[in-house]
Amino acid sequence: GAERPHRDFLNIADFSPAETFALLDLAERMRTGAYTDRPLAGKALAMIFMKSSTRTRMSFEVGANQLGGTAHFLSPRDVQLGRGEPIPDTARVLSRYVNGIMIRTFAHQDVVELAEYASIPIINGLTDLSHPCQVMADILTVQQHLGDIRGKTVAWIGDGNNMANSWIEAATHLGFALRVACPEGYDPDEAFLADAAERGADVQLLRDPREAVANADVVTTDVWASMGQEEEQAKRALAFALYQVDGELMAHAHAHAIFLHCLPAHRGEEVTAEVIDGPQSVVWDEAENRLHIQKAIMAALMGNVPL
Ligand code: CP
Ligand code: NVA
Repeated sequence: GAERPHRDFLNIADFSPAETFALLDLAERMRTGAYTDRPLAGKALAMIFMKSSTRTRMSFEVGANQLGGTAHFLSPRDVQLGRGEPIPDTARVLSRYVNGIMIRTFAHQDVVELAEYASIPIINGLTDLSHPCQVMADILTVQQHLGDIRGKTVAWIGDGNNMANSWIEAATHLGFALRVACPEGYDPDEAFLADAAERGADVQLLRDPREAVANADVVTTDVWASMGQEEEQAKRALAFALYQVDGELMAHAHAHAIFLHCLPAHRGEEVTAEVIDGPQSVVWDEAENRLHIQKAIMAALMGNVPL
């Protein structure tokens, strides 16, 4: 068990709704340059990447530095974890050197186990189950362009993957409507859906992308084959053929609707160039907002900044 109590960010619900909105406010002050404190001075973040990354690595590394701290990149080729050193031992050892760990890996349970044996905050930088930092950045982006997320309608088109799961969790706790359109066999995680239903959240699982985008303020999608599913690429391209976000589909959403994509994107597959490079797309702001929201998360978890 843990040597001392610590707070983690493994999923959206690890922060209460009030704390989540406070985090979004803090991130917004970071985005506009109003926040210049250095709550990570003298502190270090370890970053374990068992999968590739451009945005997550750079935004955590630069973000930790901007807050006065340091960040240390660990790839599976370098760390003993990649050669079978147990997760509990890795957690105990890193806890003696650094003040927080960000981890991107396959099985979500590995992150839960890391958190169980660490004595410092653990941040989920993507698992097969969820991608909470990205969805927090996405919500910051929605609020930047459209105002308060509460009362908005978000349409998720395509794979019921880690991003879809974190969107469901966000809708469950933060008070916006979510329409998820997935082909049969590619539904989101059952537990997230069940929790949404139990809490009376406005989350609907649909099959028809047009139905999902009707009245949407936000249209979002993701790759059809996530990291670790590369060998399913061809099968998935067939299954998702009717789920491409193109100009025709966007025309069924509100005229003011914005388009989000966590990136990396595949133009001509899940989204057309016309949409992702078009006037409704805010994907570059979205990528930038990873930096701001993760700085807010690190400030809260590692820098003792009150929310
Ligand atoms: N969106 C996202 O997490 O990007 P990376 O895989 O580049 O980190
Ligand atoms: N669903 C994608 C997101 C990448 C940021 C994946 O897991 O590969």
